[in-house]
Amino acid sequence: MKHIGITGIGTFLPDAIVTNNDLEKIVDTSDEWIRTRTGIEERRIANEAMDTSHMAVIAAKNAIMDAGLAAGEIDLILVATATPDFAFPSVATMVQEALEIPTTPAMDISAACSGFVYALVTGKQFIESNTYKNVLVIGSEKFSKILDWSDRTTCVLFGDGAGAVVLSEVSEGKGILSFELGADGAGGKHLLVNPKSNTVVMNGREVFKFSVRQLPESTLQVVENAGLTIDDIDLLIPHQANVRILDAAAARLGIPKDKISTSVRKHGNTSAASIPLALSYELEKGKIEDGDILVFVGFGGGLTWGSVCLRWGI
Ligand code: UT7
Repeated sequence: MKHIGITGIGTFLPDAIVTNNDLEKIVDTSDEWIRTRTGIEERRIANEAMDTSHMAVIAAKNAIMDAGLAAGEIDLILVATATPDFAFPSVATMVQEALEIPTTPAMDISAACSGFVYALVTGKQFIESNTYKNVLVIGSEKFSKILDWSDRTTCVLFGDGAGAVVLSEVSEGKGILSFELGADGAGGKHLLVNPKSNTVVMNGREVFKFSVRQLPESTLQVVENAGLTIDDIDLLIPHQANVRILDAAAARLGIPKDKISTSVRKHGNTSAASIPLALSYELEKGKIEDGDILVFVGFGGGLTWGSVCLRWGI
């Protein structure tokens, strides 16, 4: 049996930091409301010239370099995004062109905030089946372009950015131990992009209830699938939407708060990019050691959810 894990990681965050105080000047909100209701302190917003594909390319190049590979050694490109530059061509094919690796297969995966986990699991299957050796998995989002900047209930929540990983074979005992994916199309109406205005519309309370329920459930399931228990988790890296959701999940699972990443404070909700961005954030802080058990959990639009349990290291 093959062991498949993350052998390289790269990210990109736009330079421009937008604070809660900056948003007070645009909509009727306050730093106090945003901090207490979401935990978000600031987010990055990309400029006009920087679209989802541009951020994806930079994150991808960093990940390939970190893996010690040449771009030509990538066999498949998967991009999780809800904010592609165009309906088509896909962001993945734009990344392929920028990496100058013609003929390499490339496609986008649409599962909103769960997209990175869906893409990771998809990439794993291709390596497991001996089809490909190295799969580039990217989460890239420019949510700022689909926000109604006069709607305080949504515009304060999101941020832009990209994260990428290289998936390859790793040594025995390391890498992805289990996964779990799911969806509830009936809940899709609670979080969508209005086709007329092309802006995000969310029933925050319904999505909040779903998230607080599904994050712990999916975590329990993926840990059980790996033959482990909650106590074995060294760091839980969920999709970063709201610190209150993360706190509620920690309480339900009986996990100490310092075992859950809360990078949403600095990035806002970056949708499909949030998990690789959080992973990189925790690595930089030295919170992840070789052999640690990590759990990624995505949840969001669709409604969709998914988790991956892995032992860190190559
Ligand atoms: O990434 C996909 C997953 N997404 C999520 O998981 C998001 C889930 N939902 C949430 O995180 C929360 O529901 C929100 C952060 C979106 C909202 O928090 P809440 O505690 O559920 O607030 P609420 O919607 O119940 O609104 C409470 C009040 C309302 O005023 P009234 O009706 O009580 O007078 C809102 O109009 O807060 C008001 N409000 C604001 N006030 C100041 C809503 N947004 C703002 C704002 N600033 N930005």
